[in-house]
Amino acid sequence: MWQRGDMTERALNPQEGIPASGSFKTGKGLVVDEFGRMAERLLGEDPKELRDKVEERKWRFYRYGYVTGRILDLGCGGGVDLLALHGITGGRAELYGVDMTDKALELAKRRMETLGVEGIRLLKGDITSLPFEDGFFDMVTVAWVLHHVLEEELDRIFAEIKRVLRPGGVFLMLEPCEPPFTEEQWLWLELMSLQSKVELLVGKAFPRIHFTPRFTREYLRGKGFELEVLEVITPYLGGFPMRAEFFKRELEELEELISRLPEELRGHFRRKLGFLLKKIDLMGAMKGSTLVAKAYKPERVEG
Ligand SMILES: C[S@@+](CC[C@H](N)C(=O)[O-])C[C@H]1O[C@@H](n2cnc3c(N)ncnc32)[C@H](O)[C@@H]1O
Repeated sequence: MWQRGDMTERALNPQEGIPASGSFKTGKGLVVDEFGRMAERLLGEDPKELRDKVEERKWRFYRYGYVTGRILDLGCGGGVDLLALHGITGGRAELYGVDMTDKALELAKRRMETLGVEGIRLLKGDITSLPFEDGFFDMVTVAWVLHHVLEEELDRIFAEIKRVLRPGGVFLMLEPCEPPFTEEQWLWLELMSLQSKVELLVGKAFPRIHFTPRFTREYLRGKGFELEVLEVITPYLGGFPMRAEFFKRELEELEELISRLPEELRGHFRRKLGFLLKKIDLMGAMKGSTLVAKAYKPERVEG
């Protein structure tokens, strides 16, 4: 029998009473688990598909610029951005990637071998604390990573970005961004809202910071960056169209989480999930927006 008290306890002690993939205490554990599984699935990918992904990613650097000095990609994951940068710069940039997920780094390494690319340095680490000297980089990029960090970590991450950038260095960030809402985006929000309720109920927390244009502008300005570009692009860039099959997989995982709920709640969430599945089937594909911000570390710091 499910008691109120149980729920609090389970939420506070996610390792107790919840099987398999629920055994993570922090957002980080959950992130590593999620991206580890994703990377695992991609280890056997077709080299042609990989080449296509890399070609597709070049778009963002042609649009927002790049340098040929030292570039650091934070949360580099499977390394597609690093490979795109390597291709664009003809190997003339010194490239570094940092990620905390072993499997993602393994995938990045495998991809580099597959494409015969050498010299990109991959480091395991947490982006809240970077193992580089002050002013070491000419450019720092971070794509689709910051919404996975905890709110209280954000200031530390930006202090690190600023610290490792040289004066005048470039910062480029890309983050998922909801508004303006299209029909598909409302569907996406519905899915997010359903997912977060179920995650809270089963004691899994997955905090997300929503990078809206106003928040991003004021935040970057507040951190002393000089903003050059701030735009929201629809649909997602970077070879990540949200295909129905992709969502189905997410929804299957949600179904599994729902099965851990107390019996009296399961019916409600299953109905909601069923309705969402129907909508996704009808729409076939989903799209969202990417927020892009490009900023500079000022040449001279006031005061
Ligand atoms: C959605 S993937 C993005 C990968 C890559 N930037 C891209 O655009 O393809 C998010 C990545 O961020 C990494 N990540 C999230 N929080 C991190 C942190 N605090 N320190 C290091 N890596 C982190 C995860 O391990 C994951 O590989």
